[in-house]
Amino acid sequence: MDRKRNRSRMGFEAFKSSQDNLLFEMEFLAEDSMQEMIELQDLILGHLPDPEIFFPHDRDYFHKIFQHDRSVIGVKVEDRLAAYSIIRIPGHAQDNLGRDIGLVDDELDRVAHLQATVVHPAFRGNGLQRKMAATHLRVIRDLGFKHVCCTVSPKNPQSLANIICSGLVIKDLRPKFGDWWRYIMYANLAWPKDLRETLERSEKAITCSDLLGQQALIKDGFVGFRTTMQPQGFVVFYAKNAVD
Ligand SMILES: CC(C)(COP(=O)(O)OP(=O)(O)OC[C@H]1O[C@@H](n2cnc3c(N)ncnc32)[C@H](O)[C@@H]1OP(=O)(O)O)[C@@H](O)C(=O)NCCC(=O)NCCS
Repeated sequence: MDRKRNRSRMGFEAFKSSQDNLLFEMEFLAEDSMQEMIELQDLILGHLPDPEIFFPHDRDYFHKIFQHDRSVIGVKVEDRLAAYSIIRIPGHAQDNLGRDIGLVDDELDRVAHLQATVVHPAFRGNGLQRKMAATHLRVIRDLGFKHVCCTVSPKNPQSLANIICSGLVIKDLRPKFGDWWRYIMYANLAWPKDLRETLERSEKAITCSDLLGQQALIKDGFVGFRTTMQPQGFVVFYAKNAVD
């Protein structure tokens, strides 16, 4: 598909960074961007403070992702890829995250995953993850899906804060991908715009490294809905959810 048509048919947004006036251009990517995505993925893998933060994807995986229209968003700076976001429609696959949060079988077809996001280390701090998530959530809504899920490592506070800010809450916490712990994040697109108004007032703060403490809260019906950095570490706030 030629690039101009791609932009006009599927949406294109340009914005400037706050500090150094860089021009970011956000657009949906076609499969001919795969090589650049793999190179960016390789680069960020080399910069991870802990390898378990990010589960990498191979060529075959990306190829399948590209079979769905608007599944890949890229942000470019001077025509070079600075960030990307991918969504995935898991259908009834075993790794549909709806299974982890107890969705019934009939609902699994209505699940979309925010699957992965990377931002080049040189362009972090410009809210690119949140911007791409907002666009992908609009796509997911537009496609008629009801449930949005994704995973985030408890060792990844930046991503956790961004995903919560995008409207998802922590619904579960468990080992995934072998023994890598993951929050299972969830939003029901039928939820009211500000979910916080539906949460019960009594909230509990807990550090994100306290995995068992958080599991106990979740078992008791709490969801994680806010984060903050405090002297004792990165803290997650949990409250009881009044909607499903
Ligand atoms: C998670 C990630 C996508 C967030 O990037 P981003 O959208 O640029 O992050 P934000 O704009 O929200 O950054 C907020 C702040 O956190 C800082 N920050 C962002 N990512 C950071 C990281 N990995 N390590 C340390 N600080 C980071 C930013 O510099 C910024 O600081 P500032 O407020 O002092 O300027 C990016 O860190 C990344 O690509 N990480 C590796 C891959 C990954 O973990 N993906 C998510 C799971 S799929």
